[in-house]
Amino acid sequence: MQITDEKAIKTAEERFSALLRRQLERVERLKEEGSPVDYSELDKLIVGVCGGDGIGPYICASAQKVMEFLLADKIAAGKVEIRQIDGLTIERRVEVMKAIPDDTLAELKDCHVILKGPTTTPKKGDPWPNIESANVAMRKELDLFANVRPVRVPELGIDWTFFRENTEGSYALGSDGFNVTEDLAMDFCVATSQGTERILRAGFEHARKTGAGYVSVVTKANIIKTTDGRFLSIAEKVAEDYPDVKWDDWFIDIMTAKLIDPARRSAFKVFVLPNLYGDIITDEAAQIQGGVGTAGSANIGSRYAMFEAIHGSAPRMVTEGRAQYADPSSMIKAVAMMMNHIGETEKGLRLEMALDICSQFEKRLVMTGRADGATGNEFADYIMETVQRADLGSAWRSHVDSALASAKNRN
Ligand code: IPM
Ligand code: MG
Repeated sequence: MQITDEKAIKTAEERFSALLRRQLERVERLKEEGSPVDYSELDKLIVGVCGGDGIGPYICASAQKVMEFLLADKIAAGKVEIRQIDGLTIERRVEVMKAIPDDTLAELKDCHVILKGPTTTPKKGDPWPNIESANVAMRKELDLFANVRPVRVPELGIDWTFFRENTEGSYALGSDGFNVTEDLAMDFCVATSQGTERILRAGFEHARKTGAGYVSVVTKANIIKTTDGRFLSIAEKVAEDYPDVKWDDWFIDIMTAKLIDPARRSAFKVFVLPNLYGDIITDEAAQIQGGVGTAGSANIGSRYAMFEAIHGSAPRMVTEGRAQYADPSSMIKAVAMMMNHIGETEKGLRLEMALDICSQFEKRLVMTGRADGATGNEFADYIMETVQRADLGSAWRSHVDSALASAKNRN
């Protein structure tokens, strides 16, 4: 070994020890975590709306329209306040060289729940400096540990809910890896007992509460033996508290195959997975539902919650002048998840049924992402009209029944 290598090791050790200190401090904070905010006890719920960038402000505005329509009575009564939060654009983030500018973060922390449009995540080779993703930073800053992503395809019998760990795994130090020497690059993966246990409990609780009754824990613990191994052994422990919930464990590679196995996939209900696997597999699952543009995502912590699309900011649609044709379904789905989270479950259910009717069944307006399709605002109007239909529940039921019947005939 060369002398320069010895020096590099020393420098790397120092950097690594700073990372360890920060993570151990985090563990101490996790131990002190309080109980979740009870929205019913608040005098006023503050909802932050943060458009993001690229197509973000467009699809977020359409979703905001739907949200304000659903909450109109509460807003008029002063029970809900909507706050516009700018400052999460890539230009602004680059200007201050921070994933989230300090003043924007302070504004976010003054809200209870947040509706957030996609934000551009710089990568190597982009015209932007390679700063940390605003999404990832917000999840960490607000400790939004549970990334909940439902995927439903009624006619295929698919009703999945993914519980992706959102603050640890390969993401925790995703911007803190380093080049030890010119030839050696290292990244890190983090699992804490506290962080792992809370996401597993969230998944098992959901399976119990909804009656789904079945949890699949997905890791690659045969290879990533320490962090994924920890995930799996904590799953075994947590499962003991839920004898009424069936559970099994899978490796991520075979699970990606099983999701497209028609003989198997409808049996799955609730998935709990570390961060990176959850990121990857939820795009696959969303594609089965009709594409990432159709899937919403809830980021839940015990103090804050943030609702967003599962896809990125599609800057190309903006440069090509077609941002107004971007599909806002994912953001509108996020609004439905927000309704459920703040206790407006009837509104959440109606919005979900309207989304199914408009985008899967009736399709009176079709989004193509181009001028030959509807605009996002037209689609939002269509959704609001459908939400108000007196026969919404029965219309939804009959669409699902006939889709199920024709799926049966095809087989
Ligand atoms: C997601 C996205 C983000 C992630 C990106 C935009 C940082 O892919 O929400 O799944 O990797 O988590
Ligand atoms: Mg993703």
